[in-house]
Amino acid sequence: MSGPTRYRIALVALLLTALVAVGGCPPSAAPKEPVSPAVPPPPSKTKATSGPEESTGSGLSGLATAQFAPNVPDIKVGAYLALSGPQATFGQSTRKAIELAADEINAAGGIGSKQITLIVKDDRSRKEDAASCVRMLIDQDKVDAILGEVASSNSLAAAPLCQEAGVPMITPSSTNPRVTQVGDCIFRVCFIDDFQGEVMARFVRNTLQAQKAAILTDLANDYSVGLGKRFREVFTELGGQIVAGDTSYAEGDKDFSGPLTKIAAADPDVLFVPGYYTDVALVAKQARTHGLRATICGGDGYDSSKLVELAGEAANGLYFSDHCWKGDPSPTVRNFYQAYQAKHGAEPDALAALGYDAMYVLAHAFARAGSTDKAAVRDALAGTREFAGVTGTFSIDAQRNAKKAAVVLTIKDGAQALAETIPAD
Ligand code: PHE
Repeated sequence: MSGPTRYRIALVALLLTALVAVGGCPPSAAPKEPVSPAVPPPPSKTKATSGPEESTGSGLSGLATAQFAPNVPDIKVGAYLALSGPQATFGQSTRKAIELAADEINAAGGIGSKQITLIVKDDRSRKEDAASCVRMLIDQDKVDAILGEVASSNSLAAAPLCQEAGVPMITPSSTNPRVTQVGDCIFRVCFIDDFQGEVMARFVRNTLQAQKAAILTDLANDYSVGLGKRFREVFTELGGQIVAGDTSYAEGDKDFSGPLTKIAAADPDVLFVPGYYTDVALVAKQARTHGLRATICGGDGYDSSKLVELAGEAANGLYFSDHCWKGDPSPTVRNFYQAYQAKHGAEPDALAALGYDAMYVLAHAFARAGSTDKAAVRDALAGTREFAGVTGTFSIDAQRNAKKAAVVLTIKDGAQALAETIPAD
């Protein structure tokens, strides 16, 4: 990697970040007014010919006034999330944002005057528990639709149960391509790892100018394996070289000396670790003690306030792809940021933004279906077009995925900063 080029680019990126952050910063004091809808109504289209697709609605617009089957007492939405265990911040942020969205919708008159009842279960970051939580949501709680999970392996463990029962499921944030391939009841509101892996390979090769990269994968994690594979493909296509062979770890490992010794010997410019924050924090710390000079990079699994808490100084200089940037100056993001901060006293992360969008996408599908009939809700979800969310404007495609833009973030002085924005492909 050419040092001067790399630092020049990094400097420009950080200067840009500072500008965006200053321009978009919300007031530090929480607003005293009751929380108003965070998402403004979508811009009204003046001509049917102005775009290829009509918006199917977003924010609160059209929800309270929807015509809804009178015999339905309320709308039951289940959520299964990691509220404890090694992925706990993922589930907690998602839960807070889903609650914020449901509260806003209920306070504004519900969906066709029906209130949303949320039933949230903690799967403790475990695949088996994810499946048993969903079993309970379907059989005992008799929910009308399900939101979850964050981690792809947990979604993959539970999605077949939703599919079999015909219960529509939206994962806010599982990016492994196989999740929505489970069947026509399974949707997502995020991009997939084929995109995210390519984004990072291009960033590492073109922006960081890396020549040699090593990959450290969690072999039991579908997300980690898929993202690592895609990174390898694109990085190699771009003329980069993968070194140190296939190194791996298992979630919860405390000592990474085995793989790190092997990686240090190959002296890569970049170490790509497609994992979650708990493990990545330890890898980042131990990489330094093994004398690695490589820049550590990864994907959305780095997005947790705990990453910096656990890795300390070693978190500085990490790069990772993510779904949105909290400093985005757009009114939709700023309104969401303020509403979340006012309700929960914490900054929202990408998980929160995706959870919030997932709840609103689902609410609009219920409104268009006009009932809790599962097939009708599924069809309405499939028809989601030009939804103007916190994580961008997106449609659900024929594979039930969302095409979205991505950002590359870095950690600087213990805080996230924007390095690059990449449009949807
Ligand atoms: N995309 C990750 C997965 O599929 C989960 C994740 C999403 C983590 C967003 C952090 C932020 O496993």
